[in-house]
Amino acid sequence: MSQRPFIVAIDGPAGAGKSTVSKVLARRLGFALVDTGAIYRSVALKARREGLAFDDDEKLGELLTRVHVSFQVVGEDNHVFLDGEDVSGEIRTPENSMAASQVSSRPVVRAGLLSLQRRLALETPKGAILEGRDIGTVVFPDADAKFFLEADPDTRARRRFEELFQKGVERSLEEVLADQIKRDQDDASRAVAPLKPAEDAMRLDSTSMPLSEVVRILEQTILARMSKR
Ligand code: DC
Repeated sequence: MSQRPFIVAIDGPAGAGKSTVSKVLARRLGFALVDTGAIYRSVALKARREGLAFDDDEKLGELLTRVHVSFQVVGEDNHVFLDGEDVSGEIRTPENSMAASQVSSRPVVRAGLLSLQRRLALETPKGAILEGRDIGTVVFPDADAKFFLEADPDTRARRRFEELFQKGVERSLEEVLADQIKRDQDDASRAVAPLKPAEDAMRLDSTSMPLSEVVRILEQTILARMSKR
């Protein structure tokens, strides 16, 4: 039997349902949840607070030596801490979302965050769910189960609009869709670790599938793989 915790990679574009699905799965399976987008968002927030240009690789590299990101489940939610401060709300503003997309295109940032992502997953006793864009292709190419979630752009924008609305962020559906198109293009076209499905990932389109059904399929697949380990 392998000593390593069971690693689940859940990749896909924004609004495909990754966060909801990952949260439910982690709770049901008793796995840690590593929201890698929240890590990029935290680095972007720190860079903004320090007034750094998002393409200043030297300063970004130096910032990475001082950044401390951790997760803690509070009630139902996976909270994100940047240097000990709970930034769960602040990292999700529209401004910080755009900044995160830009910062995450810098190779120095991606390389600098690899070991943190791996460590957060490997220090868990049982298993970890990692959600992001390049988990199955770069962070854990040997993950025990890989999934790529998709949904059509309108459906994803509507989900994101609802999420922001519930948090009290005033943003029209058109603005949310425009931001999403820009981020999708940047994430998919960047030179390093662009958003793309791993060849051995199971692909699921949740456009007309309830997320509860997505959870059911993923959970069955994970449990079947765990039993064969
Ligand atoms: O999943 P999210 O929307 O919270 O991610 C925020 C940004 O970080 C997104 O624009 C893409 C980037 N990201 C990435 O490049 N690689 C990851 N593994 C996760 C997120």
